[in-house]
Amino acid sequence: RRLVVLVSGSGTNLQALLDEIAATGAEAYGAEIVAVGADREGVEGLARAERAGLPTFVCRVKDHATREEWDAALAEAVAAHEPDLVVSAGFMKIVGKEFLARFGGRFVNTHPALLPSFPGAHGVRDALAYGAKVTGCTVHFVDDGVDTGPIIAQGVVEVRDEDDESALHERIKEVERRLLVEVVGLLARNGYRIEGRKVVIQ
Ligand code: GRF
Repeated sequence: RRLVVLVSGSGTNLQALLDEIAATGAEAYGAEIVAVGADREGVEGLARAERAGLPTFVCRVKDHATREEWDAALAEAVAAHEPDLVVSAGFMKIVGKEFLARFGGRFVNTHPALLPSFPGAHGVRDALAYGAKVTGCTVHFVDDGVDTGPIIAQGVVEVRDEDDESALHERIKEVERRLLVEVVGLLARNGYRIEGRKVVIQ
């Protein structure tokens, strides 16, 4: 299986996938990363891809006249690498109709909260502010909402009294990286079906 991974920041989830595939071998893992894309230049996630010798691309909203044109350009850039599965690993843009028309059903996102709680760009901060005692991470298929697609797997993380956002996010990411590596490998090796809100891994 061919994976394209989309990032917007540090790319530690991408790195977890890279490390797993390097350790296990793409054959046994069931997938290889063929390209890494970002919505902005100069992020550590792109540097990680370059260090791994992978092709990278950047698709910036501001380089396009409209959001729709950006969405179509992103879909083109991803499609050029002929992925079987697209993974959003900290990609911080909401994709649109064109992208979902082409990759819906094979576009997976990881979110640092237990959806449907705390969707959106500040899930860690929101859970902390709310006073949640447990939070966690969710790997799900992307649909036309914000963090609303069918859930594939979740991991629970306790919130500690002394936590600030970054400490909690780091603890979540320790679980998230393992969850993402497991889920992507399962989807790649076993195949799956999406039935309404249920994901059935064969
Ligand atoms: C992850 O926790 C992801 O769920 C959230 O942003 C973080 C990205 O971390 N959307 P990294 O770039 O993979 O280190």
